[in-house]
Amino acid sequence: MAEECTPTINTGLRGVTVASTKISDVIGAKGKLIYRGYLASDLAAKAGFEEIVHLLLFEKLPNKDQLTSLKQQLAAERQIPKSIIEALKTCPPSALPMDVLQAAVALLATTDKEAADKSRPMATRKAIRLIAKLATVLAAWERIRKGKEPVTPDPTMNHAANFLYMLTGQKPNPDLVHFMDVALVLHAEHSFNASTFAAREVASTRAHMYAAVSAAIGSLSGELHGGANVRVMEMLLEIGSPDRIASYINKTLDEGKLIMGLGHAVYQTDDPRAHILAPMSKRAGELAGDTRWYEISTILEKEGKKIFKERKKIDIYVNVDFYSASLYYSMGIPVDLYTPIFAISRVAGWCAHVIEEQYAEAAPKPMLYRPESKYIGEYCGPDECSFVPIEKR
Ligand SMILES: CC(C)(COP(=O)(O)OP(=O)(O)OC[C@H]1O[C@@H](n2cnc3c(N)ncnc32)[C@H](O)[C@@H]1OP(=O)(O)O)[C@@H](O)C(=O)NCCC(=O)NCCS
Repeated sequence: MAEECTPTINTGLRGVTVASTKISDVIGAKGKLIYRGYLASDLAAKAGFEEIVHLLLFEKLPNKDQLTSLKQQLAAERQIPKSIIEALKTCPPSALPMDVLQAAVALLATTDKEAADKSRPMATRKAIRLIAKLATVLAAWERIRKGKEPVTPDPTMNHAANFLYMLTGQKPNPDLVHFMDVALVLHAEHSFNASTFAAREVASTRAHMYAAVSAAIGSLSGELHGGANVRVMEMLLEIGSPDRIASYINKTLDEGKLIMGLGHAVYQTDDPRAHILAPMSKRAGELAGDTRWYEISTILEKEGKKIFKERKKIDIYVNVDFYSASLYYSMGIPVDLYTPIFAISRVAGWCAHVIEEQYAEAAPKPMLYRPESKYIGEYCGPDECSFVPIEKR
């Protein structure tokens, strides 16, 4: 019989604090994103992705020797096994890159003899392995689906440069390397968002890092999360010119649909990352000789905020995906790689969270996630249903 109880249901776990973390903080009201005590916007201006990887995994910014050592470890781990390349070649070219990435992470576990080693130092090594290899997998997939051979990583290049080099086979333009490096820094970590929570939830079962990261990639693929940057670019392409912006916004809202790249579950101001990505989007447009997508984005931001205020009586703000779309487009990156690029950066944050979930000493120590649910299904009258054999149904 149904029990008499009226539990509070926090849909989407909004406002529910499930763990403590030393990795990052999002101060939504002030529009601040903090990585281990530092403002992400400050780090984006002053540090490269490898320094952020060190900060996230080792809890401190590296000194010169530590940074050199980490760069060497990443370089040593960047190549992917031949068997992974062969497996990628079996995927149809139409496969969604996020699906390919997720599958590749599960396959990488099968090639890592130490995948199931649960020791703390091994967790860091696996994290470095995954961070190094994920970008290579993505670049290899982009080439394989276009009928080209993957490019071997160059140990003299940093992570951002290597990714662009492996995508195109050409030595990348330093401006584009800088844009990619900053984008990687800005996407590396964002507290308990959906994909990080997915990673931590899987890690809480004591599953290994590959299992946690592949779950996180699945979570990131959704359009309400990382998938939004692809949808932003599709929206910009559909709008096509500034004079169509207002009618696009009104029509979309009339149909009860979302304007992608606007709104955030935590920020009650503009996403601080958007203010760094916007000028890079402009500069990338100038380098490409076409600033249209940046310009449409800026007008869309202004008009969107105005129309939301008039129609919905709420303030709406831009999120990280809003300007990353036009930035990547102007950099010549295929649209369906935008969310996977988010993943090749966020993997650093996911791995730090997996380590914290499994090895944190501070109280309260994490434990297996097991929320409650309220059953609203059927009973048969006042009691449980009695089983009816199939012939009698
Ligand atoms: C991110 C997101 C899921 C947050 O949702 P949320 O926490 O429900 O946001 P809010 O509580 O501030 O929403 C308030 C209202 O504005 C609406 N709204 C929020 N963002 C909107 C958007 N981008 N387009 C249209 N309406 C939007 C909500 O549906 C809600 O309407 P309602 O009160 O009529 O139900 C949401 O803003 C969204 O879907 N944005 C577009 C997708 C996107 O860019 N995702 C990337 C996030 S980094």
